[in-house]
Amino acid sequence: MFGKRSAKAVDLLSDGRHRDEIRQLNVTAAVIDVSFEVRPGEIFVVMGLSGSGKSTLIRMLNGLLAPTAGRVEIDGTDITGLSKSGLRSLRSQKISMVFQHFALFPHRTVLDNAAYGLEVRGVPRDERLEKARHSLSLVGLEGWEAKVPGQLSGGMQQRVGLARALAADTDIILMDEAFSALDPLIRRDMQSQLLELQETLGKTIIFITHDLNEAMRLGDRICVLRDGRVAQIGTAEEILNDPANDYVAQFVEDVDRTRVLTASSVMEPPIPVIDPSHGPRTALRTMRENQTPSAFVVRRNRRLVGAVREGVIGQAVRNGVTELDGLIDADIERVHPDTAVADLFAQAAESPYPLAVVDDDERLVGVIPRVTLLAALAPGSNGTADSTSTGDADTADAAGNGDAAESVAAEAADAPADDTAATPGSDAVPAAADEEGGRR
Ligand SMILES: Nc1ncnc2c1ncn2[C@@H]1O[C@H](COP(=O)(O)OP(=O)(O)O)[C@@H](O)[C@H]1O
Ligand SMILES: [Mg+2]
Repeated sequence: MFGKRSAKAVDLLSDGRHRDEIRQLNVTAAVIDVSFEVRPGEIFVVMGLSGSGKSTLIRMLNGLLAPTAGRVEIDGTDITGLSKSGLRSLRSQKISMVFQHFALFPHRTVLDNAAYGLEVRGVPRDERLEKARHSLSLVGLEGWEAKVPGQLSGGMQQRVGLARALAADTDIILMDEAFSALDPLIRRDMQSQLLELQETLGKTIIFITHDLNEAMRLGDRICVLRDGRVAQIGTAEEILNDPANDYVAQFVEDVDRTRVLTASSVMEPPIPVIDPSHGPRTALRTMRENQTPSAFVVRRNRRLVGAVREGVIGQAVRNGVTELDGLIDADIERVHPDTAVADLFAQAAESPYPLAVVDDDERLVGVIPRVTLLAALAPGSNGTADSTSTGDADTADAAGNGDAAESVAAEAADAPADDTAATPGSDAVPAAADEEGGRR
């Protein structure tokens, strides 16, 4: 609360009075009843319009502002009880801050700017310059150490701000609209770089923004503030798919869902999969049973080998081939679970198979049929195809492969059941014939 009668204001608000009533006391209620926990290593985003209380909130986290009521705990210590010197050492040892307008010293070199936090802490010159040099290289500013900020672009200046926070080597970094002053493309670059750095550094970051897309891109969790109160706290997907109220729903309406949702959030279980030691006949039966025109070939340790198509396998079965070797398409489209849905469309368009979602150990963790991608675009969907309530056959059909549905229809008509092969129809194996073959 800002204002002389803030204690009275807290009483009124505790009684459930509206913020407007507080105004009569000449008190501004900037942050009201906001509670959350930030986990170690998390990027926690606080998102809200201008005036919603973001800066006030973040200043309470590093002790620059004392809350009128409530507590701020860091590693179990309530910092609202700290002395001035206690707060000072908190700010130099535990928390660093990156500001919107960089807050660099114009006459100091880039290197000295980056070393500033350590200088305040009394770290010897050589040591702090070495650390500053290292953190500048982390943000891609090697070679710029001797320049002054005015010789750098805005994006580069903010990198210096980030390098300064990194050099201070605090576990916690607070970033207040740190990228808001940058041009869109540079801003995206900075976001990417922050995410990349975070992979290796694992800082606890509280990032403030008024930009929902930025919030969704960066935040492990997002706290949406409205008029000083929490409108919702959740992951980007939770907020997108399950907004807590109309305010949040309106906010997320314009979000580019394809940038927020990732491969892992829209993928489906990989069914069916085939073991590379199985023969073509088994592979064919597996596909038929699951009514899919293709299947992924996966080792027992879940490592992805490739994929097979019903048409090719059917042909092989009729030719008496008994090994899958040589029938497996190893050159299939693979995507990482963290890839944004927006970046999947081109690959999906080129692939006759659902996209294979493969983790860092090359294990198949999921698949993405094209229809699933399309479903993910629809607001209100939970990003998976099953929310569209289409049947399996429809799903596969819309996936662009077209052949599962046709295959079902064709089987019913006891007609050739495949059209995916290079020579349509020529290699069709009527289901009945195969069943018979399977028993032989
Ligand atoms: N030092 C202050 N004195 C009085 N009112 C303030 C002060 N700082 C912020 N406010 C008010 O508190 C509210 C929240 O401001 P702020 O935390 O800066 O929001 P944001 O960072 O989300 O734009 C606003 O109404 C603002 O005018
Ligand atoms: Mg602000």
